Amino acid sequence: MAEVLIVDSKEAAGALVADHIAALVAADPQFTLGVATGSTPLPVYQALAAHAAAGVDFTRMSAFALDEYVGLAEDHPESYHSVIAREVTVPLGLDPARVHVPDGTGGDVATAGERYEAAMTEHGGVGLQLLGIGTDGHIAFNEPGSSFGSLTRIKTLTEQTRVDNARFFDSLDDVPIHCVTQGLGTILRAGHLVMLAFGEGKAEAVAASVEGPLSAGMPGSAIQLHSHVTVVVDEAAASRLQHADYYRYSQANKPAWQGL
Ligand code: GLP
Repeated sequence: MAEVLIVDSKEAAGALVADHIAALVAADPQFTLGVATGSTPLPVYQALAAHAAAGVDFTRMSAFALDEYVGLAEDHPESYHSVIAREVTVPLGLDPARVHVPDGTGGDVATAGERYEAAMTEHGGVGLQLLGIGTDGHIAFNEPGSSFGSLTRIKTLTEQTRVDNARFFDSLDDVPIHCVTQGLGTILRAGHLVMLAFGEGKAEAVAASVEGPLSAGMPGSAIQLHSHVTVVVDEAAASRLQHADYYRYSQANKPAWQGL
């Protein structure tokens, strides 16, 4: 089962996860981090930037992003190319040549998924994958109904996701309809999944993903198929978990050697 860690704040979650990643990078400077977009992972990136400022060298680390909009210019401020550059590559001092984001604008968008899968395989995969979760349970842009075996491909965003993400654009009409996203099968190949969620709005999706039945209707439930999953949530996002008492008990008795 997923290990669930309930923390007091986003900042505490960010520090916890970033400390772990910084230690992984110190042990293996060529570590590969799977990076997510959205507001949820920002506290992790902020805490990682503090590690960079304190001397942790991220210049040889590689990163693979989960997804990208189709048809949005890479230099559009809300393209995931731009977001990852702004939030991760620049503040951490990553080598841009080692940061990979799916191609949503190239001439041949139909092959973008295959090309990204090939790049990931050739690289040797992702060590730790950061994940957020959408209010409808999507991870990356795998909307409800996505196959647990799905690989990187073009997907159509739901209206709900477009409405949720409209806050980053001038209007709903500006939110792209299509995306290229790692599949659930792609994500499940990462060595360790770390899902973060904050706020009451995510409570239902978190409970369904961690404790609910495995269902393509709840893409987050795919994490139950992975052998090493850590879910880091604040009290509000934990509020619908049936076994919260057990998670707290387990957390209070977590062996020091275990790490994240
Ligand atoms: C987008 C991203 C997801 C992210 C989700 C939630 O749809 N593609 O990777 O998990 O938003 O966003 P937020 O973290 O802002 O709630």
